[in-house]
Amino acid sequence: MSADWIASRGGPLHGELLVPGDKSVSHRAIMFGALAEGVTRIDGFLEGEDTRATAAIFRQLGVRIEAPSDGVRIVHGVGLHGLQPTDEALDCGNAGTAMRLLAGLLAGQRFDSTLVGDESLSKRPMRRVIDPLAAMGAMIESNDGSAPLRIRGGQALHGVDATLPVASAQLKSALLLAGLYAEGETRVHEPHPTRDYTERMLTAFGVPCEFAPGFAAVRGGETLHATDVSVPADFSSAAFFIVAASLVPGSELLLRRVGMNPRRTGLLQVLRLMGADIVEENAGEQGGEPVADLRVRHAPLHGIEVPVEHVPDMIDEFPVLFVAAACATGATVVRGAAELRVKESDRIATMATGLRALGIKVDETPDGATIHGGSLHGGSVESHGDHRIAMAFAVAAQLADGEVRIGEIANVATSFPGFDALACRIGMELRAG
Ligand code: S3P
Repeated sequence: MSADWIASRGGPLHGELLVPGDKSVSHRAIMFGALAEGVTRIDGFLEGEDTRATAAIFRQLGVRIEAPSDGVRIVHGVGLHGLQPTDEALDCGNAGTAMRLLAGLLAGQRFDSTLVGDESLSKRPMRRVIDPLAAMGAMIESNDGSAPLRIRGGQALHGVDATLPVASAQLKSALLLAGLYAEGETRVHEPHPTRDYTERMLTAFGVPCEFAPGFAAVRGGETLHATDVSVPADFSSAAFFIVAASLVPGSELLLRRVGMNPRRTGLLQVLRLMGADIVEENAGEQGGEPVADLRVRHAPLHGIEVPVEHVPDMIDEFPVLFVAAACATGATVVRGAAELRVKESDRIATMATGLRALGIKVDETPDGATIHGGSLHGGSVESHGDHRIAMAFAVAAQLADGEVRIGEIANVATSFPGFDALACRIGMELRAG
């Protein structure tokens, strides 16, 4: 089933808003709560399709998970060795994080399991996780490097000292989760530091985990102890409104309690280099993570060369950065971002095609693009079922001189249910088409 949005220029954006909980933290809270001894309460859980898929999988594996109210989950942990086998395939839907982390976690079980996903997830590369897990002794069959993944249980895993070929928190996390079941120590080195939620959350669950930017290590056989998790607002969801308020003249928005883990906030550095006016207020901590309120005022942006070192820290924000670049004066150059080609869609191609359809000149390269700032016109764009592309074009439409039809928006519910209502509340124009 395909649904569309029709979006167009709204007024200046005003108001205060709290975006939904962090997707990465919500997935991990369910997983670690399930493997822990005791009961874990999660507040601020993202009620998205991706994170609900993870919760449904753990229910299939015998874990009792209560949902007493929106954004709350009570996970009755079964301990490291308490998951139960199921004959049914485990459906990760659109969620790459679920599939890759679970590949590591399930490789350590005594039973077999099968992970499946939707059409997009079934095309995404899984060899990057299968091969390093195989080096630990895991047995995983795939469909020529893609899902379904058939994971053979009962393997004796052993620790490794691995250097990952790509900067990916999902790969690092898969190895650390397998490492919980492995004999000896599992040490993971990354080519560039990535988000460290697995390391931080293992520590919060009482597992000794050594970590520093670009490195993490765990020992097998440790016990996870239940602890409550308070999930901060997702920076990646806030990003759409940060860019929208920066671009639309006369705007001022206050985004409350946004997760500010430095491995996630590369977009702030880049927007500031482009001239954005973003002030951090009330800096504090929530559930062991830095949070802050972000006050964003309109400011004229200019194109830059995006420093390559920021790329992993803003890997999910490129669709909306492309929109900022389209509205900036001059050219913005993105390099070192080939990973964008294997996200929920090929985000370089999808954004380049859509922006061109709205009148912007974009030169694609294998690992990035040059976006020439200009004037956005109305038109039709495809999101290819990619949630972040759909939301990025809803922001672009706020600057366009005509209506923008955005195709295939249903997957917005994977990460940001209620985006359209929140967007309209602060002054954006967006409706079902
Ligand atoms: C995530 C890691 C990133 C990110 C994804 C969530 C995670 O993927 O794009 O949305 O929760 O670990 P990669 O590890 O493939 O970069």
